[in-house]
Amino acid sequence: MVCSMDSNNIAFSTALLDWYDRHARVLPWRISPGDRKQGVLPDPYHVWLSEVMLQQTTVATVKNYFDKFVRLWPQIKDLASADIEDVMKAWAGLGYYSRARNLKACADIVARDMDGRFPERPEDLKKLPGIGDYTSAAIASIAFGQVAAVVDGNIERVVTRYLANPTPLPKVKKDCRVFMSDATPEDRPGDFVQAMMDLGATICTPKNPACSLCPVNADCLAGQQRSMLHFPVKLPKKRKPTRKGAVFVLQNSNGSIWLQKRANKGLLGGMTEVPTTDWLASKDGATGSDAAPVSTEWKKRELIRHTFTHFHLELEVWHGHVDTMTGDGWWSMPEELPTEALPSVFKKAIASALPDAFLPEPTSTSGNLHDTD
Ligand code: ADE
Repeated sequence: MVCSMDSNNIAFSTALLDWYDRHARVLPWRISPGDRKQGVLPDPYHVWLSEVMLQQTTVATVKNYFDKFVRLWPQIKDLASADIEDVMKAWAGLGYYSRARNLKACADIVARDMDGRFPERPEDLKKLPGIGDYTSAAIASIAFGQVAAVVDGNIERVVTRYLANPTPLPKVKKDCRVFMSDATPEDRPGDFVQAMMDLGATICTPKNPACSLCPVNADCLAGQQRSMLHFPVKLPKKRKPTRKGAVFVLQNSNGSIWLQKRANKGLLGGMTEVPTTDWLASKDGATGSDAAPVSTEWKKRELIRHTFTHFHLELEVWHGHVDTMTGDGWWSMPEELPTEALPSVFKKAIASALPDAFLPEPTSTSGNLHDTD
């Protein structure tokens, strides 16, 4: 039924869905439009998992993590039975670690109280940990075929350009939601939403939109004015401060590295770290080898840089040897490091001290540039 839609919206959604039928990206959590028409339904567990991972992180980065999670925990009850420490380890490198804690809390509730079945309506989904406006609407439309106004960064770009809407972000999100609820067809809401995402990711790109290939270019106001790059309008960004600190990579005579667990609350809460000084978004940490947790012959290695949501961080990297450490922590062999819950900033620090340590892609050049809670 499309009776509530006006003819412009019907033309828009028809052109977009025709394009999606031919050009949909193949993604591990996605049911292709052809299969969907044959009646294949998406697994709500896959949709939820991918949407939580895709908050703040690129599709390219998420693919590998998604595959790993589904291999380790094929169903939501498996994730609910898992140890939180193992979930944090599998999440390490994806950033925004509160997402992983919420993911586990959500799996526990759905498995324990809902017989493993997600609620279908956005307002019920939103009561679950880690599921907000965007994720509830995305799951409701993609997994359960509900018309829900999904608006992510890609969709904001497509809609504001199409309408040449001059309202700056974040205020313009409201207009985007209205557009999406008017334009989403009742017979294919999930495909429509995913088509908008694919259009934003592959054609209506931030810097070099390929307007000549766009299925909805005929009525795109920004395209007609050649003003695509002005949308969405953004207010000037607050400058991020650069904080300083030091990190201490300690090895024993076996070559193992001293690791410890960060406090559960706060930045990178509950994750694993190498000893580091007390830097925060609001203040520098101590620097120099005098700030080390033990005294030994410290050698200075190459400084590392990392960007969090609210600040840049520059860390001195100190490398030293010691055989006994007191306090809570453990020794980890270099080949064990990929299985530790080490955020990217500490992987970079270890890679600076030990360039040969076996680490999978210590710097996050794969798209996940931010790493925070
Ligand atoms: N970004 C966020 N969710 C997505 C999805 N389901 N498909 C493609 N890109 C996305």
